[in-house]
Amino acid sequence: MAQPHQDRGPAKPGTQGWLRASGPHYLDVIERLQRLLDPDWYLEIGTGRGNSLARGTGKAIAVDPDFRVKQDVMSQRPELHFYRQTSDDFFAGGAAKSLTDSIDLAFIDGMHLFENVLRDFINTEKFCHSESVVLLHDLVPFSAPAAEREWDPEVTKGWSGDVWKMIPILRDYRPDLDFTVLDPRPSGLGMISGLDPENRVLEAAFDDIVAAYLNVTIKDYGVAEFSEIAKMTSVMDVLVGDVIGEGVKV
Ligand SMILES: C[S@@+](CC[C@H](N)C(=O)[O-])C[C@H]1O[C@@H](n2cnc3c(N)ncnc32)[C@H](O)[C@@H]1O
Repeated sequence: MAQPHQDRGPAKPGTQGWLRASGPHYLDVIERLQRLLDPDWYLEIGTGRGNSLARGTGKAIAVDPDFRVKQDVMSQRPELHFYRQTSDDFFAGGAAKSLTDSIDLAFIDGMHLFENVLRDFINTEKFCHSESVVLLHDLVPFSAPAAEREWDPEVTKGWSGDVWKMIPILRDYRPDLDFTVLDPRPSGLGMISGLDPENRVLEAAFDDIVAAYLNVTIKDYGVAEFSEIAKMTSVMDVLVGDVIGEGVKV
């Protein structure tokens, strides 16, 4: 297993009143969750260099149109399947179905635009069961520029895009889910359980949701309002407890 993640230094302070995710590094949290949940099948959307994929041991499916993996991501895994394509193409092509109809743990970290993440979530949930867990990365942006729909690397080194919109969307449209925003640095992690593969609420409302949220910036939404709905649970509280989400025993 990889060594605990070393930070390059404290993150720059954000706007006054800005919510900051300052718990353990997300890669260490992903590793710990994989050890606790011991998923038979792990789905990762957005693999990049493989830093998160390197943190698990179960059977895995990795989807990314631009893999840059240069490390041991196979490790002890009995199976590892790479799909060099967008997540939309991956789901449309039906490749996952040929491997499994049951995903135990998914990490959604692909294109950082909320409509992509929403589609990834909708498509992933169809493979979930009552004890599956879905993780959404980058729900808590560390600055307003990092929360823009377009990434300007001159202005912000990191970019979490407008994935933050998934918080109000899931709270409004899917109150049935057990949805917790955890505080791993640098940009939080959503943990969702109580998934229902038959639920079509988000799919039916997809166009309305996109129309409502497309042009809303985090400042339009309101930093204080966002801080309120994005209130984070300490990942340490979750990891030291023996229950992750309702009904998901570890
Ligand atoms: C932030 S990186 C993933 C990092 C990785 N999960 C980790 O923690 O080390 C995001 C990745 O998403 C990929 N990506 C971009 N658009 C995508 C899409 N439509 N479907 C799937 N992956 C996509 C990019 O190529 C990039 O490698």
